[in-house]
Amino acid sequence: MNLRPRRWRPLLPLLLTATLVTCATPSPRDAGQHLTLIYSGNMNGELEPCGCSEGGDLGGVRRRASMLHQLRQDDPQLLLISSGGLVGHESSQDRLKGEYIFKGLATMAYDAIGIQWQDLAFGDPLLTTAALPWVASNWRSDNFAREKTLVRGNTRLQFFAWLPPQADPAGKMAGTTRQVDDDPAVLAASLAAARDRGDITLVSVPLPLSQIRQLLPLTNIDVLLIESQHEVYGEPQMIDGTLVLQPGSRGMRLGRVDLQIRDHRITQFQHQVIPLPKAVADAPELAGWYEEFNAKVKENYLRRSAQRKALSAGTSPFVGVDVCAGCHAGAHKVWTGSEHAKAFADLEAVGKSFDPDCLKCHTVGFEQEGGFIDLAMSDTLTNVQCENCHGAGRDHVEAKGAKPLGNHDWKPSQMCGQCHVGSHSPDFKFEVYWPKIVHGR
Ligand code: HEC
Ligand code: HEC
Ligand code: HEC
Ligand code: HEC
Repeated sequence: MNLRPRRWRPLLPLLLTATLVTCATPSPRDAGQHLTLIYSGNMNGELEPCGCSEGGDLGGVRRRASMLHQLRQDDPQLLLISSGGLVGHESSQDRLKGEYIFKGLATMAYDAIGIQWQDLAFGDPLLTTAALPWVASNWRSDNFAREKTLVRGNTRLQFFAWLPPQADPAGKMAGTTRQVDDDPAVLAASLAAARDRGDITLVSVPLPLSQIRQLLPLTNIDVLLIESQHEVYGEPQMIDGTLVLQPGSRGMRLGRVDLQIRDHRITQFQHQVIPLPKAVADAPELAGWYEEFNAKVKENYLRRSAQRKALSAGTSPFVGVDVCAGCHAGAHKVWTGSEHAKAFADLEAVGKSFDPDCLKCHTVGFEQEGGFIDLAMSDTLTNVQCENCHGAGRDHVEAKGAKPLGNHDWKPSQMCGQCHVGSHSPDFKFEVYWPKIVHGR
């Protein structure tokens, strides 16, 4: 049996793999339907290729957009999904890239994107910079859709995505409730219900296949997107009627499966990997987006180097705890043994050391002139230090103690109240907490 004859537009002579598999004998009643599914996962913040070598010059948001135009000319009804993992969270630059990746992808009419923890690393403000069809099936609140219905011709498809609870940053913090459910039974029930209605089910679970099989049965899953592989797409497998797809990371390629659907099941698929080399033109509609991005990168660079200069020239109002230690050994000793000295390590432990919503209380002077930027640039200003409570100390140090510190007229409770507030410290009582870090007179 053959696929419906199709106008294959030669997508550059670059088709890496092509697999044609027939899975079942067609029923004579159902004429069947063809669906083009374009999938990817884990762009990991690779907004554009560096272009340093020809072999590595693949991918990027602008080429992806123009390839999608080309593919849609071939099939305007194509389905476009991603298993998420769009942003990286290695540096403060990743936040800016994340913002522009989200905005860029928002122009591509995605049908559904499974959210991954890394997409949440910069907090809600970044996620809402662009309207993307995020799905998180085990998310507890209503921030994200739990499933997404997609309709093409007579076929209804239902997209689901699972966020592995073991990686939930909130689960690692004492006294914080998890953001996701860890019982896969709810997802399994939704899948069964979708299949009862005759839907084709698409599920993204960013875990290795062996772990997914321990998590939930594949019985009601038609298409399963598993954890991305480094750069290269995996060969698809059909396991007892479930088509298992493995995207390649870093946005270098797109995966394409042509599905033949009959009696609400996939009867055939043809797989192909579409690389995005330089020969794929940049989408013209993203020219302005790209200019804006580069201008922001430059602005950031200039701001950071000004900051770096200020730090090394000693014009930042903050000096860091090591400098205070020179004259206040006693206070320094108390501080070293306190939880405040571990505040940044605790953020790192939960993968949140790039989230501005967290940094403001776990570092010195975040988003203030001369304050903490990131670990690479300002490693002397991590943690909660003397200057969080006493105020910036440069003038005091330069005057050998003769000038008071920034917050010299603050009441102690006012100092603590910058951070020990509301849900961040529900049990805070000055009389209980101060004795744990008591120093000075
Ligand atoms: C060169 C030595 C020196 C360094 C470095 C130094 N101090 Fe002092 N500090 C002093 C002296 C001397 C006094 C006492 C001044 C007085 O009592 O008149 C003092 C007093 C203080 C006081 C109490 C008076 C006030 O202004 O509130 C605080 C708090 C204080 N220092 C914090 C700090 C912090 C925080 C740092 C690091 C940012 C620091 N000091 C660095 C010498 C130093
Ligand atoms: C308003 C200030 C503030 C913000 C914002 C803040 N924290 Fe904290 N955080 C605190 C305080 C205060 C404590 C200590 C609570 C206590 O022991 O009473 C704390 C404690 C922690 C701990 C240690 C918990 C433990 O059990 O030892 C972690 C981890 C943590 N915060 C992570 C985060 C993350 C992640 C974010 C961002 C999503 C964040 N914090 C944002 C103030 C803040
Ligand atoms: C969590 C907030 C906090 C941190 C961190 C902190 N302090 Fe203090 N410090 C206080 C408070 C509150 C007092 C008591 C002020 C009072 O009694 O009025 C104090 C008192 C002092 C005093 C005595 C002031 C006086 O007038 O007797 C010195 C000196 C001092 N701190 C230096 C330091 C140094 C140096 C560090 C860092 C190694 C540090 N503090 C870290 C909150 C803090
Ligand atoms: C800049 C924010 C900030 C300020 C200001 C601050 N704290 Fe904290 N505090 C924290 C954070 C963050 C933690 C948790 C550190 C960790 O465990 O990672 C913490 C933890 C603590 C702890 C340890 C709690 C425990 O469970 O043992 C004590 C005690 C404490 N703070 C006392 C104080 C007092 C007293 C003040 C005011 C004089 C104060 N803090 C001011 C951010 C702050």
